[in-house]
Amino acid sequence: MMRLAGKTALITGAARGIGRAFAAAYLAEGARVIIADIDERRASETALALGGDNALAIGMDVTDLHSIDNAIRLAEKHGFAPIDILINNAALFTAAPIVEIAPQDYARIFDVNVKGTLFTMQAVARHMIAHGIRGKIINMASQAGRRGEPLVAVYCASKAAVISLTQSAGLNLISHGINVNAISPGVVDGEHWDGVDAFFAKYEAKAPGQKKAEVGAAVPFGRMGTADDLTGMAIFLASTESDYVVSQTYNVDGGQWMS
Ligand SMILES: NC(=O)c1ccc[n+]([C@@H]2O[C@H](COP(=O)([O-])OP(=O)(O)OC[C@H]3O[C@@H](n4cnc5c(N)ncnc54)[C@H](O)[C@@H]3O)[C@@H](O)[C@H]2O)c1
Repeated sequence: MMRLAGKTALITGAARGIGRAFAAAYLAEGARVIIADIDERRASETALALGGDNALAIGMDVTDLHSIDNAIRLAEKHGFAPIDILINNAALFTAAPIVEIAPQDYARIFDVNVKGTLFTMQAVARHMIAHGIRGKIINMASQAGRRGEPLVAVYCASKAAVISLTQSAGLNLISHGINVNAISPGVVDGEHWDGVDAFFAKYEAKAPGQKKAEVGAAVPFGRMGTADDLTGMAIFLASTESDYVVSQTYNVDGGQWMS
């Protein structure tokens, strides 16, 4: 049985990585998927590769409220509405020692990871309420939001904010029948972590690939995660099986964090 048959999902940052894997998994469960990303060209390639008529690529910048509204308008125009499921997945990473953090880097990360999550959630919740949709909203947190890291203050704080926003929005929106929950991955291999590895190569004088090998070996499961390791939780949180789950953040991290 397809668990998301007849549903339409908007996934931000879905051109690559974890968002792309979520799109593929939702399509396989019978959903139609809007692949929204600031990288419109890559979003189009992903939509073509994954979904044919069931995937719609939209260029969307989650930091820009007009762009968010425009994405919803385009989804409606192309018949990918009403939207039943939102995954707030788009995010940026940065690292620096406290004494080197630049205000513009802080602003850039909080704009995408926190403001983008809040106002995409707001716009899609308004859309769901207007259409009488008892929807599902899933925010992408991180183990980085569970505790600090010496070189990752800004990203960690942004993901702690995502966990907090999930709690407040979940408590508020459940009165409209909208579930808001979050997924907290650990270390997931892919282009994102290639970038993380490069930061640690710079600040900890490690060889390229060394940090990845170290974090993978430290995972109780025995390896880094893959994007596909996260899809089961993303399907559960989008399905009716999670109707009674409100404001939670689930660790899917091979045993790294317990809370
Ligand atoms: N990879 C990991 O180890 C890991 C661990 C914990 C949490 N996460 C979280 O999971 C989510 C996905 O991570 P990933 O590894 O696939 O990252 P990624 O960097 O591979 O993909 C992020 C996507 O977001 C898009 N994006 C960036 N800025 C945007 C904007 N302003 N508007 C719209 N789209 C934008 C990018 O173009 C990219 O396609 C993120 O929220 C990330 O913080 C990842």
